[in-house]
Amino acid sequence: MTASPGPAVRTVDLHKTYTSPRGDVPAVRGIDLEVRPGEFFGLLGPNGAGKSTTIGMLTTLVVPTSGTAEVCGFDVARRPVEVKRRIGMVSQNNTLDADLTAFENLEFRGRYFGLGARDARRRAEELLELFGLTDRRKGVPFEMSGGQVKRLMIARALVHRPEVLFLDEPTAGLDPQNRANLWELLRGLQSRGQTILLTTHYMEEAEALCDRVAVVDHGTVLASDTVEGLKGSAGTDTVITVSFDGAVPEGVHALDRREGVSRIEVGDGQVRVFARSPAGVLGELVAAGAAAGVGVTDAAQLRPSLETVFLTLTGREYRD
Ligand SMILES: Nc1ncnc2c1ncn2[C@@H]1O[C@H](COP(=O)(O)OP(=O)(O)OP(=O)(O)O)[C@@H](O)[C@H]1O
Ligand SMILES: [Mg+2]
Repeated sequence: MTASPGPAVRTVDLHKTYTSPRGDVPAVRGIDLEVRPGEFFGLLGPNGAGKSTTIGMLTTLVVPTSGTAEVCGFDVARRPVEVKRRIGMVSQNNTLDADLTAFENLEFRGRYFGLGARDARRRAEELLELFGLTDRRKGVPFEMSGGQVKRLMIARALVHRPEVLFLDEPTAGLDPQNRANLWELLRGLQSRGQTILLTTHYMEEAEALCDRVAVVDHGTVLASDTVEGLKGSAGTDTVITVSFDGAVPEGVHALDRREGVSRIEVGDGQVRVFARSPAGVLGELVAAGAAAGVGVTDAAQLRPSLETVFLTLTGREYRD
């Protein structure tokens, strides 16, 4: 694998607006990203954030509306062939060839990328071994588990030894065991020098795998940093959320003046307190309810994590 100099991925003010009969959909609204060679980079965001659209543009499947995107130094719109040779893509849905065995899915991809017959077979064997699929080599996709399908799709994306591997929600729908297993495989790939850009809506996935993360929502990057950096910049607060069986009592506003409280958000029957030092906050909220004659129906205290970063950045619940 020959690494190109410069960033593996770079986008500047990247936009995509889909036109549909029901009007324009601004899916990506000015995204700037830079992924370095060898890096494991995550695009983290909820459903509809624009993750697949972004990855679609980077892999030449979606045409940008404006802005630029380069992969390994090649512009995706002007040099799509150069880009395609250097990338592997694993999309959200199963795109394996249903009529081919696991082995043939890999072998055919090798031939498509110009490997000779013997090399294509050798590469297929090697990848089946690496992804723990050797005993499924004669299996066809519909006989495989979700985890096996995903592993085979990743193996297939690596046949031509791409510089950058793109993974769109690689573990969505997998059980915890398969997820952990796939995480191990991905860490192994990175340790051998593979640059990886993945999208995910699982915070723990971004936290477990990624060197750096861009938090995206509504087609923009809300923050981009290492997981530790994100927690340090935006989310060192603990978030305390309390729901009441009536209107939020006026008394909760007294917390605004409390030492260690950064801010309070009052919604419909619910109050959320962002606090650097959360001790006593929950008790005070319950007491405010009692004083106003409203009961507490739910209470939660989230310690600083990517989830609290997300809440702090967007001021709203993470939609899973
Ligand atoms: N082909 C399309 N035509 C019109 N609108 C689209 C199209 N593809 C996506 N969208 C819209 O663009 C927005 C971003 O979608 P996108 O699939 O990029 O989000 P996502 O972050 O990948 O979400 P998910 O987590 O559900 O996969 C959404 O509002 C979606 O409905
Ligand atoms: Mg998507």
